[in-house]
Amino acid sequence: MADIESVLREQRVFDPPAEAAGRARVGSMEEYERLRRRAQEDRDGFWAEIASELHWHEPFERVLEWNAPDAKWFVGGKTNIAYNCIDRHLSGARRDKPAIEWVGEPGDRRTLTYAELYAEVAKFSNALESLGIERGDRVAIYMPMVPEAAIAMLACARIGATHSVVFGGFSAEALADRIRDAGAKAVITADGGFRAGKVVPLKQNVDQAVAKAPVDHVVVLRRCENDIAWTAGRDSWWHELTGGASADHEAPALDSEHPLYILYTSGTTGKPKGILHTTGGYMVGTYYTTKLVFDMQDDDVYWCTADVGWVTGHSYVVYGPLANGATTLMYEGAPTYPEPDRLWKIVEDYKVSIFYTAPTAIRALHRAGDEWPKRRDLSSLRLLGTVGEPINPEAWMWYRETIGGGRCPIVDTWWQTETGAIMISPLPGATPTKPGSCTKPLPGIQADVVDRQGNSVGTDEGGYLVVREPWPSMLRTVYGDHERFEKTYFSEIPGFYFAGDSARRDADGYFWVMGRVDDVINISGHRLSTMEVESALVSHDKVVEAAVVGRPDEIKGQAIVGFVTPKKGLEPDEELARELMQHVVVQIGALARPAEIRFAEALPKTRSGKIMRRLLKDVAAGADSKGDTTTLEDGSVLDRLAAERGYEE
Ligand code: PRX
Repeated sequence: MADIESVLREQRVFDPPAEAAGRARVGSMEEYERLRRRAQEDRDGFWAEIASELHWHEPFERVLEWNAPDAKWFVGGKTNIAYNCIDRHLSGARRDKPAIEWVGEPGDRRTLTYAELYAEVAKFSNALESLGIERGDRVAIYMPMVPEAAIAMLACARIGATHSVVFGGFSAEALADRIRDAGAKAVITADGGFRAGKVVPLKQNVDQAVAKAPVDHVVVLRRCENDIAWTAGRDSWWHELTGGASADHEAPALDSEHPLYILYTSGTTGKPKGILHTTGGYMVGTYYTTKLVFDMQDDDVYWCTADVGWVTGHSYVVYGPLANGATTLMYEGAPTYPEPDRLWKIVEDYKVSIFYTAPTAIRALHRAGDEWPKRRDLSSLRLLGTVGEPINPEAWMWYRETIGGGRCPIVDTWWQTETGAIMISPLPGATPTKPGSCTKPLPGIQADVVDRQGNSVGTDEGGYLVVREPWPSMLRTVYGDHERFEKTYFSEIPGFYFAGDSARRDADGYFWVMGRVDDVINISGHRLSTMEVESALVSHDKVVEAAVVGRPDEIKGQAIVGFVTPKKGLEPDEELARELMQHVVVQIGALARPAEIRFAEALPKTRSGKIMRRLLKDVAAGADSKGDTTTLEDGSVLDRLAAERGYEE
């Protein structure tokens, strides 16, 4: 294994392996530059050409209508993304090719060919229509990672119902908020899902959620055979609805700007934002990026480990790969269950050729020890990807050497829920890579690093990551709050899309994403706002005030530390800390559980009354990173620290 110190010292650059360059669509930097220039000189022509590789029920009249910040792509065009992901592949050799390979956590398996996926999606589309779900209705999906999750998404997309997938790890409270905000008419769920040997009680959570945010229909997939409560008239079984349904369904022509889905993500405020994506542009964006970044070929077995509850699961488990006619693998359970070689065993069993995961998973699997990947045959891998958070060079090198055997290029892909598709990434056959850099924007994407006024900053200077020009898969609005959309993304740096990240660009023009500049923390590649967790903490009746910060964590990237002032007269102890952690889990979900609660008599504030987060961040970072410590901070100690270190500004 290459010595990490020397890699860093020498700033080593890894050229794409000759084999990757030989077979790739984009096989050199000259070709990349040619594409980039072409996209810059003729933006509309560039995207029109890519769009023309897909099926349009009616052709578009104009490529783009841009009244910043409002974009309409492929104006006047009519299409159907489910048709493009399925029906388009039925006439040729792909008809009997596996579309979805699925592995359940207990070890059950299922293969769905494109023809079989068509039948399942058709049946469920008919079932939804029989319930009275119509074009434009919103449907929440709260499912485990089973093929039916993808089938439900595709069926909604097919009939023109806007789906809102809610990650199965979110609590009933969080689900209720999302159902309410989207005004969902139905929820599709399962009796449960398997995770780390346990059953996640999805239907039970749905029952609690819809008690607060009522819906007309709850559709339940039988997955775990566990006992669930039933509300006649509202609840129906998936298998009963689809049992008598026709296995044919004609995909209607939908407007290119028809709302495809809403996906909630955390921003600066306490309330998650419903990011809205529409049909045509998102379809073109996910199709194009999957084809280019993964250099998807017909014989690939492609596996993205993300849950469909996140944007990565939308774009790179379901829509992007299927639009390319690829075989996409889905795995239901925990990555280390029952043993830390679970993922490597699946790679071996299915001869996975492209593997895409998050740095957190890479770090956790690295920590588990080399003996686990070593006992499996990983020689089928040809390309590795990472997403969701900055990857540290150590993890990058381990991924490259131990998992990729030194022969697989790594694509470190930068993008966001809002961008819908990958924006900055190496191309596997062309771009020399540097551990920790997502390298260069894809052809067609005008990313830049700028100062507050929007001027490009110099080499190796830090600045704000922005996108200068519209792109097809960009978000169209924050559902129900267009003002927030404009304010958050298009007014911070006038004229550009502001991503909320800081970055620098090196002398080779390579981007290095440094992290968020807002109050968003990134835990295991998942976004949470500190205010969201604060709201959860202060909703507990023993809490007067709370401030939440992220502290560095070796595995998860960041961990949550909550500083809490309890009600007068309460003796803060371990038990109260545990109670508060559990309260956050109930309010949001297990992913938001604070790693540590620290009690303080008072939170340090500036003269204008603002909590000194920077001070708390430093205190949290200096703390014992292992413990659930519950030290009572003496207010005067924090005040003295603030004065000494000059945190007033
Ligand atoms: O801070 C960036 C980080 O994740 C944020 C987007 O989070 P989310 O919308 O949940 O989407 C995650 C999956 C696309 C970004 O603002 N991020 C994402 N990819 C990278 C990254 N940070 C560094 N390197 C990346 N490759």
